[in-house]
Amino acid sequence: MTTEATHTDQRAGGTTHAGLQAWVDEVAAMTTPDHIEWVTGSDAEWTRLTDKLVEAGTFVRLNEEKKPNSFYAASDPTDVARVEDRTYICSVDEKDAGPTNNWMDPNEMKDLMRGLYAGCMKGRTMYVIPFVMGHVEAENPMFGVEITDSEYVVVSMRVMARCGVNVLRRIEELGENAKYVPALHSVGAPLEPGQKDVKWPCNPEKYIVQFPEERMIWSFGSGYGGNALLGKKCYSLRIASAMARDEGWLAEHMLILKLISPEQQVYYIAAAFPSACGKTNLAMLAPTIPGWKVETLGDDIAWMRFGKDGRLYAVNPEFGFFGVAPGTNEHTNPNAMKTINKGNSVFTNVALTDDRDIWWEGLENTPAHATSWKGLDWTPDSAELSSHANSRYCTPIEQCDILADEYYDPQGVPISAIFFGGRRKTTVPLVTESRDWTHGTFMGATLSSETTAAATGAVGVVRRDPMAMLPFIGYNAGDYFQHWINMGKDADASKLPKIFYVNWFRRDDDGGFLWPGFGENSRVLKWAIERIEGKAAAVETPIGHVPTPESLDTDGLDMSDADIAAALKVDPEEWKAEIPQIEEWFAKFGENLPTELQIELDGLKARLGLE
Ligand code: GDP
Ligand code: PGA
Ligand code: MN
Ligand code: MN
Repeated sequence: MTTEATHTDQRAGGTTHAGLQAWVDEVAAMTTPDHIEWVTGSDAEWTRLTDKLVEAGTFVRLNEEKKPNSFYAASDPTDVARVEDRTYICSVDEKDAGPTNNWMDPNEMKDLMRGLYAGCMKGRTMYVIPFVMGHVEAENPMFGVEITDSEYVVVSMRVMARCGVNVLRRIEELGENAKYVPALHSVGAPLEPGQKDVKWPCNPEKYIVQFPEERMIWSFGSGYGGNALLGKKCYSLRIASAMARDEGWLAEHMLILKLISPEQQVYYIAAAFPSACGKTNLAMLAPTIPGWKVETLGDDIAWMRFGKDGRLYAVNPEFGFFGVAPGTNEHTNPNAMKTINKGNSVFTNVALTDDRDIWWEGLENTPAHATSWKGLDWTPDSAELSSHANSRYCTPIEQCDILADEYYDPQGVPISAIFFGGRRKTTVPLVTESRDWTHGTFMGATLSSETTAAATGAVGVVRRDPMAMLPFIGYNAGDYFQHWINMGKDADASKLPKIFYVNWFRRDDDGGFLWPGFGENSRVLKWAIERIEGKAAAVETPIGHVPTPESLDTDGLDMSDADIAAALKVDPEEWKAEIPQIEEWFAKFGENLPTELQIELDGLKARLGLE
């Protein structure tokens, strides 16, 4: 591949931005693709790429009547989730990656990866995707350029981020002053002349690498969303968290929702739960309590900055939803169902029905026969699941009927409450209110959750997942805790969001969920707002304030008083058993642990009667 060949290609594009063109040329020289295409974002391009994916067997076009302009894909069975053990923060200094990230010297990593990238796009097309996370009209637009050799990635990026020629033109207008994150991706599967491609090219050797000082991303070997759509986790969380530390803001793994009370009071809430722990569902909640309404702003990522009025404002940098499919249905998430039924979506690792629609565990209308994500015949009697537990839908956010108008405001929305939460079978009550920002930061820093299928590895193991950011903090997590504390210290305390901790996943003695969840979670949102308004009662416990049974709106809730009490229970013995785990967790950070968090832990121990 030579640069001259690029300029003879109709779709070759290219840019007047010399720095960007030089990087693209350099990558092409290293990876030696057969063609180069600049992604424009046009409808014709979408059609051409999706047709190409259908022809390659990667995509199956779904039934036009049921899911217009939508596609089914099944990945290689080894490439189904984020690979946390292959994910690196390559800071110059090892201590800046901290105890929670994999680290390698950046130069060593680059040498190693240049070896992998050499000739890795042979036989393929290299796509250059100019994109912006957040608004192109933002004061400092957050540009990125992803280079990839995967059409699946291009199509998915077009759903998940604002991409294409408008973004490129803006980068060119800003000229050499334009800052953009270069993000290089390859599936790592070069093709020899005449070699037939597989449906899902990938490489058993995977590296997902962030260079935080250079604000650069290199990803190799995987086609899975979180590893390959580099605007999402790699940029908007890992790289952005390092930017946020340097510039005094927050890049968080949070949904953003708008809650409207029966009196038409508006509140904005952000919530951080680990992957596959309920963000997308809460973001699109259909409240069961009369008169309350929810609108969506985002389901996975929030960038938060203090406004001139001293309040914390959040924006969602994304353009689509990348949602967990299993469990999504007309009851649990009617708004997600309406969104995907409008089409223009990609479904990965779900089941394909005989009439070319999709199905997954938990969806209505179980088919008598389908093709499983592994390509096998599936019937309701099959021993194996039809869909991978981390199967996903990828759908445009603008198709969501309850998208709030404020989604389009580059300033974002002022947050009244932050929720942390995770999956815990025991110990953690339905909702706890923190005493103040520092205590809330302690709650976030000690957040615990059972692992899920969203990352490879064991499922159901309790681990600490601080602020639901364990796999996404782009620097030393101890410094990240300090950054959270400092953000609170520098602010007007009366304007800070109130911090709450929730657990929808506590179990009863038979192993069933105590709390019905989904739309019923509106009761917890209402309690939180009434706490902020000074209207709801609470009991003070060693871990914080929890609702009195009367203060939680349980009208029409199908739950016994005993179950409600069990969901709200704070058992000092269970919490005493939690302490050694928190101590072990904090010990990892050594001198990087903020004193404030040690003081919070000491306070909790004292309230539990320890020491
Ligand atoms: P996200 O990955 O954090 O966005 O989580 P999702 O909202 O996609 O949910 C992940 C899984 O948890 C899905 O299977 C949901 O059906 C399930 N889930 C979400 N909210 C609740 C809830 O309130 N209660 C219960 N029991 N399950 C939930
Ligand atoms: P999730 O997003 O949080 O919706 O699961 C994907 C991920 O975190 O890998
Ligand atoms: Mn996520
Ligand atoms: Mn989600």
